[in-house]
Amino acid sequence: MPKSVAIVTGASQGIGRATAVRLARDFSALVLVARNSANLEDTAKAVRAVGAEVLAISADLAEPLAAQSVVAQTLAAFGQIDALLNIAGAVPQVDLFETTEQQWEAGLALKLHGARRLTIAAWPALVAAKGAVVLMSGNSASFPKAPYAAVGTINAAIVALAKAFSDKGISDGVQVNSVLPGPVMTGRRRSYLEHWAPLHNMSLEEATAKFPKEAGIARYGEPEEIAELMAFLVSPGARWMTGSALRMDGGEVKSI
Ligand SMILES: NC(=O)c1ccc[n+]([C@@H]2O[C@H](COP(=O)([O-])OP(=O)(O)OC[C@H]3O[C@@H](n4cnc5c(N)ncnc54)[C@H](OP(=O)(O)O)[C@@H]3O)[C@@H](O)[C@H]2O)c1
Repeated sequence: MPKSVAIVTGASQGIGRATAVRLARDFSALVLVARNSANLEDTAKAVRAVGAEVLAISADLAEPLAAQSVVAQTLAAFGQIDALLNIAGAVPQVDLFETTEQQWEAGLALKLHGARRLTIAAWPALVAAKGAVVLMSGNSASFPKAPYAAVGTINAAIVALAKAFSDKGISDGVQVNSVLPGPVMTGRRRSYLEHWAPLHNMSLEEATAKFPKEAGIARYGEPEEIAELMAFLVSPGARWMTGSALRMDGGEVKSI
């Protein structure tokens, strides 16, 4: 396999972890970024088992200096960046009228500004490689709800940010897209259901069973299914796809 390097954020669990393991089939080296080093090491083992080299970086991407450090360590280890998958996100799932300043700032600091800073820091290397970027949004961008207002608002901002990067990428030779998953069963989805259950007078077990019907879908998505879309977006087959916001949601969004 020719040398090719992808950075995956949020790689310690959930969709980020599944994406890293999937990309190990297509890239010769993966850079895994998140805070929890033990979980990152678990992902690293799974990636190595598929055959790719690994650099695991424990970093808090909400910190302004983290992006430069991730890019510097990546270039020192592998000398190039062909793909950047910004998946890390932990926007507080709190009611519009109860979300504190600190919760808004924390949600923005990681998911919007963390992805923005890392994409900017990696941009020169991405231009050199004619690379690809994915920014993780979410279906809630299309239907922001008051009980989780920051989630929908920040996801909508991510779609706009990806579009702005893609505009620059047309002349720079870098493709940039955003992805909007529907409900995928991960740790974050379980914490969402912990909020959703009492709002609907249900136990967590009842809520977990009933939520897909309420959302108008047949079942939850699996992280591995989103990982397939991620892999396509950074593959040669998607080279002419840029500035798109791609939904994979089991049919949750009913409008065209
Ligand atoms: N699951 C869904 O239904 C769904 C739907 C739509 C969109 N999404 C989006 O998909 C992305 C992944 O979600 P998920 O469901 O896989 O969530 P998850 O299982 O909670 O994973 C979140 C990832 O983000 C990392 N992270 C959190 N805070 C971080 C920080 N400050 N610095 C660096 N990394 C950090 C976590 O690692 P550490 O804790 O180790 O730092 C973890 O790897 C998120 O952006 C989420 O909004 C998910």
